Amino acid sequence: MGIKIQDVAYVRFSAPDLDAMETFLGEFGMIRAERAGDALYMRGTDDDAFLHVTHRGEPGFVAAAFEAASTEDLDRLAREEKAEVAHLDGPGGGSVVRLIDPNGFRIEVVAGRACVPRIEVPAPAASNDSHATPRLNALKRLAHGPSHVKRLGHCVLNVRDFRESEAWYKSRFGLITSDEINLGSLDKVLGAFLRCDRGATPSDHHTLFLLGSGKPGFNHAAYEVADFDDLMCGHDWLKEKGRRHEWGVGRHVLGSQIFDYWRDPWGHTLEHWTDGDLLDAAWGSRVATIQEVIGTQWGPQAPATMGS
Ligand SMILES: [Fe+2]
Repeated sequence: MGIKIQDVAYVRFSAPDLDAMETFLGEFGMIRAERAGDALYMRGTDDDAFLHVTHRGEPGFVAAAFEAASTEDLDRLAREEKAEVAHLDGPGGGSVVRLIDPNGFRIEVVAGRACVPRIEVPAPAASNDSHATPRLNALKRLAHGPSHVKRLGHCVLNVRDFRESEAWYKSRFGLITSDEINLGSLDKVLGAFLRCDRGATPSDHHTLFLLGSGKPGFNHAAYEVADFDDLMCGHDWLKEKGRRHEWGVGRHVLGSQIFDYWRDPWGHTLEHWTDGDLLDAAWGSRVATIQEVIGTQWGPQAPATMGS
């Protein structure tokens, strides 16, 4: 039963002003893929046709989407869920199965999307440090501007009951626990960082984080950027533009990535990240503490508003 999803694909929102959303997402480092009627599709530099969709309407989170390995898998999921396989609107086409999770979230599973040409990002100049000095007779100069969003890496959802949601997602999508957040005893679990089972092919430490906060809601979506300098240039750019900063810059404990969180004009949290852990299916699972979730290896502690 179920399939093994390969990655997160995109997130959907609704917002009353598509121009304002496009301006923000451009400053965040995404590029317009298509603006058609009442929908805005934004892409990154990788070959995904889009990573973020906005539909004109009342502000809110609409859906999260995950990538099936094949259209055969998508057909099988549809049969098992007694759901229909529909045409996926937007650039790249493809097929979609729409499900509703136990929290009422719309979850889309997609396959058969056409890739778009990658956008080349200049390779970073080598870095000199105390171990090696590969950059000789070459100056490091960075362009002033937004980060280069490469791809969507993970999505975090606040759920009513963690065990209920964990069972729903794992049984359908084959997700593996990377870190389960223990609150002192085995029956007290706050949530878990879940990764895709791609066998020997490494996957991000987490593609989906289910946080059992008791109150369902969108927590954040996290976009990978080119590298650390790129993340910091983007930080300065968003600050100059007067955007609302949420948390960062720091290095997480769980997942190890360097992070920087921002709010869109309607308060939805989007993350920039780089240099995260990659784990294959055989790596296994760990139990972690709440301090490891909210703490950092360096950088500020999480603000009280994070995740709401
Ligand atoms: Fe994150």
